[in-house]
Order: sequence, then C-alpha cells, then structure tokens
Amino acid sequence: MNVVVSIGGSILVPELDSEQVNGYARAIESIAEDHDVSVVVGGGKTARDYIDVARNLDANDSACDYLGIDVTRINARLLISALDDAYPEPPTSYREAEDALADDKVPVMGGMAPGQTTDAVAAVFSEYTDADLLVYATSVDGVYTSDPSEDSDAEKRSRLTPEELVQIVMQTQMDAGTNSVVDALAAKIIERSRMHTIVLDGSDPADITRAVVDGGHSGTEIVGDEAEQQATLDHAER
Ligand code: UTP
Repeated sequence: MNVVVSIGGSILVPELDSEQVNGYARAIESIAEDHDVSVVVGGGKTARDYIDVARNLDANDSACDYLGIDVTRINARLLISALDDAYPEPPTSYREAEDALADDKVPVMGGMAPGQTTDAVAAVFSEYTDADLLVYATSVDGVYTSDPSEDSDAEKRSRLTPEELVQIVMQTQMDAGTNSVVDALAAKIIERSRMHTIVLDGSDPADITRAVVDGGHSGTEIVGDEAEQQATLDHAER
C-alpha cells in the first residue's frame, strides 16, 4: 500500500523530547517494512506560540502562516533525524516529496503554503500520489459531531462518508471558537478524491502502526458508499 501518515505537532512534540520523537520514527519504520510511507508533521504549541507573538506584533495572516510553516519544518527535521531511511530535507513541493518516495526514501513534509494547515498538505499529497490510505494521528480520538471541548452532546462517529465529514467540519468551523479535528480544505480534498482516511488518537505511536498494518483502531474511518468500501477492502488485500 501507499500510505500517508499525518502526525500532529501536539503528539510529536508535546515537549521537546528525543524519546518521544524516536517512538514515532520506530512506528514509521515498521510501517515502511511493508508499505510505501510518507509523513506530514504539524507545528504543535510552538507554532501557535510564534503565531500569537507575531499577531501581537501586527504581522498579517500570511506572515503568521509562514512562521507556522517554518515551525512544522523544524519538527519535520527532528523526525528526519530519528529515521534511517528518510529523505534528508523536508520537501518544499509535492513533486520533490514524490521523487523521494520513488527513490525509496521516506519524505517527511511540514507545511507547504499559507492559508491552510498540514491537514491539507496530507490530503493533497495523498490525492497527488493516489495513496491507498491517509491516517491522521492527532490528540483527539476521532471525529465528533461537534467540538467535544465545547459541546457536551458531541458524539464520536466510528464511520463517516466523505460528505458527512465535510458537513461536520463546515458546521464546526462556523461555530465561533470551535476547532475541527481535520481542517475544511482537507475535508473537501478527501471528499473529491474519495480518499480512504482514518482519524485516530496517535498519542501512542504503536496505534498508528496497528491501524495501517492490520486495520485495527478505535478512531473514525472515512469511506464512501458500499461500492467504495468494497473497493477499499479489495485494494488493501492486494
Ligand atoms: P499545523 O498543521 O500544525 O496547524 O500548522 P494546527 O491546525 O494548528 O495544528 P493541529 O492540527 O491543531 O495540530 C501550524 C500552522 O502553520 C501554518 C498555519 O498557520 C498553521 O496554523 N501552515 C501550516 C500553513 O500556513 N500552511 C501549511 O501548509 C501548513
């Protein structure tokens, strides 16, 4: 399989800790034993802190986004340092990442362009390379019908169609002060590409490996209608 794994900054570097980063490197390496794997990493609290300070200094949104991108690439460099077969730099284009993959290297990307988050980078790259599976490893245990930190009636969904994902994400983003687990652009790209996607709590790196290697997880699976689900199963068995 061709797999894209997105690792949120909040789980990769809750604190700067080499053991923590090492754990994710070992998980990626065990996936890479049998699959083509590409990685996208987020910026976590450090990115948010830099962006907050820049905002207070009157930086505009694009300037803040570039700061965020730089931090995601620093985190990517940390993971690259811990991987044996990684492409040595965070790719700055999808083409460069695809070339790395073709060369049997693991590309570790951060952000790519202002106006989005690394959720969208992972979705675009999955579409670009016709990935079989996209995994979002986050600090939340799946997709909820609304933001669980704001709404006590929020329900976790174990399975969603791409259309349902878009609907939940759009509704969540319209409610001021709430956050969706996957950003709106990523959800739209998952919808148009019909990308088989899993959103899970990746605080334990072994759970990422398990989801890819044997399909077991307790997060949310995003798959299309029955025909699409069957096609996904057939593909995974190949
Ligand atoms: P993240 O992907 O970590 O954003 O990128 P996030 O939503 O804050 O992280 P999670 O999902 O909650 O862990 C950090 C920041 O970098 C900029 C954005 O400002 C984003 O908020 N960024 C990232 C971009 O502008 N473009 C990108 O392609 C990626």
